[in-house]
Amino acid sequence: MPRKKITIVGAGNVGASASAYASARELGDIVLLDILEGIPQGKGLDMFETTPVLGVDTKVIGTGDYGDTRDSDVIIITAGIARKPGMSRDDLLATNVKIVGEVAEKAAARSPNAIMLVVSNPLDAMVYTAWKKSGFKPRRVAGMAGVLDAARFRSFLAEEIGVSVQDVQALVLGGHGDTMAPLTRYCFVGGIPITKFLTRERLDQIVQRTRDGGAEIVSLLKTGSAYYAPSAAVIEMAASILLDKKRLLPCAAYLDGEFGEKGLFVGVPAILGANGVERVVEPDLTPEEQAAFAKSVAAVRGLMADVDKLL
Ligand code: APR
Repeated sequence: MPRKKITIVGAGNVGASASAYASARELGDIVLLDILEGIPQGKGLDMFETTPVLGVDTKVIGTGDYGDTRDSDVIIITAGIARKPGMSRDDLLATNVKIVGEVAEKAAARSPNAIMLVVSNPLDAMVYTAWKKSGFKPRRVAGMAGVLDAARFRSFLAEEIGVSVQDVQALVLGGHGDTMAPLTRYCFVGGIPITKFLTRERLDQIVQRTRDGGAEIVSLLKTGSAYYAPSAAVIEMAASILLDKKRLLPCAAYLDGEFGEKGLFVGVPAILGANGVERVVEPDLTPEEQAAFAKSVAAVRGLMADVDKLL
């Protein structure tokens, strides 16, 4: 079987870390593309030189030329600006819509059969932008948010309970922002409901910390936003696609009637395989959970209207 090919657009913090994770997992050859001269080339070469040490056969190159991305299996978009303290993800919209629109169009033209994964923020609106400009079928485009939000939730819960992170399962619905809805009813530790381990009050505090998880990192870093967990999360999605694992992961997927919604990308549980988003799964929601999801959908629709004005 020929090696898979992964294009990562944006060789900044998220893009370069994603490239390192993908290479370490031997998922395929990697093309790291950026508008900066020398940075993607230098990082790509540096990463290629790690491969004998890691014992993996992956070719990693950096480039500014979309010709090098031809016939990729997966395109990961991380290009754009990141948050600084005091900024919300939505503050990035006007700048990133232009960048993401342009790179999605150029990358899609060279790899018409790829699956496109978006990381740039504001996430749900950028997935919509990338989909519009790529011309791809909607289920071939998805956004990374839920895996990261759930990972944050799982880390905090595991630490609190004193149990392996591996044994904590969590589901986060909705947009990647203030309206994200971590579903505590679907949160289990080794199959046992989370409420056996924590008081409601403590659980609510951890839910709030999860919602603010991105801002917590921004306030520490000051010069940018999180990148280790976001890049690991998008590579988890890429791996499911490249290896056709059919993982059921929360991601920003296109809704075509599921959850009573149509025509938008928002965080839902989805099965990811070789064809991209192969199925959106609808868990039963209580009226309260439905209301939280509806609030999130309304926020995402608001951002989509802003995107439509700018495209
Ligand atoms: N084409 C290619 N690369 C671009 C373009 C473009 N048109 N515009 C910007 N870039 C590149 C920048 O040169 C930079 O190297 O995108 C990279 C972004 O890297 P960082 O500034 O380090 O930002 P990062 O932390 O990686 O975040 C990128 O992901 O998580 C989101 O909110 C975050 O939107 C942000 C994105």
